[in-house]
Amino acid sequence: MNMPAAATAPPARRLHGAIAAEVPVSSSMRRLELELEEAVPFQPGQFCMLNLAGEPALVFGRPFSLLAAEGRRLSLLYKVVGRGTARLRDAGVGAPVTCLAPLGRPFPAPDPRPHLLLAGGVGLPPLLAWAERWGRPSDLCCAGGRDGDDLPWGLLGSSWRVSVDRPGALPAGRQAFDGNVVELARSLLPASAPERVVLACGPLPLLRAAATLAAERGWDCLVSVEERMGCGYGVCRGCVVPRASDGGYATACKDGPVFEARGLDWTRFGGGGGT
Ligand SMILES: Cc1cc2nc3c(=O)[nH]c(=O)nc-3n(C[C@H](O)[C@H](O)[C@H](O)COP(=O)(O)OP(=O)(O)OC[C@H]3O[C@@H](n4cnc5c(N)ncnc54)[C@H](O)[C@@H]3O)c2cc1C
Ligand code: FES
Repeated sequence: MNMPAAATAPPARRLHGAIAAEVPVSSSMRRLELELEEAVPFQPGQFCMLNLAGEPALVFGRPFSLLAAEGRRLSLLYKVVGRGTARLRDAGVGAPVTCLAPLGRPFPAPDPRPHLLLAGGVGLPPLLAWAERWGRPSDLCCAGGRDGDDLPWGLLGSSWRVSVDRPGALPAGRQAFDGNVVELARSLLPASAPERVVLACGPLPLLRAAATLAAERGWDCLVSVEERMGCGYGVCRGCVVPRASDGGYATACKDGPVFEARGLDWTRFGGGGGT
């Protein structure tokens, strides 16, 4: 596959701005709208390092995938998992922020082959962005959640297929597969199914299962990894992932976060990657 070079994306800039809106979109997921001093053109799969400005700034910004941009308004989706995301939720509309964006290597634009999108948890935003920008009817978009309440149904168009770990109530007219998102894809795509390009983003078990599915079928597979990050631009090496080619490591923030699945050494891929 021809991976887009990070260097071809517009250079990242550290922009000042403020929280313009912050609303829940599911039991666990929240949409954050930032009004920044300049627009941020981005490619789906790229991310920002976001921090609150002034008091109470975090020592390090936190990485979030870019969901949508309209003028100077930038949208993200996030889950509260710890100190930084709790502070974001509590900061309130008008709170000043700094946003370093756009960062990282994006998912490639589609080639003529149909694609299979596999999203889990906070892996959904970059694939929502990809589907919004480039999705075609031939692509199969699958999103997994813990249960029906966990999923942002309002953002998932009717073409998205959904899986849940725990069965339960769903919005009227919607259905969900009982199992994980890769099992859902397997149930929809028999072994004889034509070739697809797999794009996956989510916790490490999802990425492993996506890579396994693609390897079994001989399909190309691109995964976006969710390592913990410090700087976001290749300096601190706090985000390294094991490379298959030479036993070394690549940085998730600069060489990724999108990698060809066969370019990673899954046997050495252990910690992190699991929000
Ligand atoms: C490229 C990239 C894109 C991301 N996009 C999104 C997004 O669109 N929406 C979203 O909600 N989150 C996203 N994340 C994850 C997000 O950055 C973390 O959830 C956030 O940094 C947690 O900050 P915190 O201070 O609240 O948690 P902390 O207090 O730092 O940690 C709380 C718990 O979460 C775990 N954790 C923290 N960061 C990660 C991580 N990156 N991977 C696995 N476990 C982690 C910690 O080990 C700990 O158990 C992305 C991460 C990366 C690398
Ligand atoms: S976060 Fe610093 S090198 Fe990747």
